Amino acid sequence: MRLSVLWRGLAGHPIHPPLTDVTLGAYTLSTAFALLSRLGVSDDNTTTVWWLVLVAGLATTVPTALTGFADWLDIQRGTPLWRTATAHMSAMLIATIFFAITAGAGHGDYVDGTISGASLVLTLVGYVVLVAGGWLGGSIVFVHGMRVLNLVDEPARRAAAPVEHPEKKEAEGS
Ligand code: HEM
Repeated sequence: MRLSVLWRGLAGHPIHPPLTDVTLGAYTLSTAFALLSRLGVSDDNTTTVWWLVLVAGLATTVPTALTGFADWLDIQRGTPLWRTATAHMSAMLIATIFFAITAGAGHGDYVDGTISGASLVLTLVGYVVLVAGGWLGGSIVFVHGMRVLNLVDEPARRAAAPVEHPEKKEAEGS
């Protein structure tokens, strides 16, 4: 088995998508708690969860972005797939910058147990950009079909097994 399985996963079982679930989940939870805190629901506790889960999201962004980047390197430059994937990467990097600024500037809010209006706005802006980037991620997979095998008649046992399936080269843009 090749070492690249650690960042690319196997054919039919890429590593980036499950990591995106963890990261999107963390940022979604953090944003929800920012809103709850602002609405005055258990102020102290919701502010604590907002900040801690935001930092957890930043931590999981590292392997998420690295595995996405590894897949991006396989795409032929200038193709429609490459343009969509590059827009996705840009959106995710911008969202990450917003969340990193929010975590840094919002540390005082975490200590005080009250989220400020500025922290809430930064969290919401980061989240809107993140959702736009996630939409583009969906386009990469479900429109361009990147890393999708579509082996409709593959026997169920073989589909679930960690075996080599034929995978198209992403260079053609599909
Ligand atoms: C916060 C960081 C990121 C998140 C949350 C994220 C999210 C997503 C999502 C939701 C998908 C669709 C897959 C699915 O529906 O399960 C996707 C696919 C993809 N993303 Fe990202 N992404 C991130 C960073 C990056 C970066 C930095 C790149 C580098 C260019 C990248 C490249 C890709 C590629 C090439 C795909 C196609 C499928 C695959 O690689 O497995 N992503 N991403």
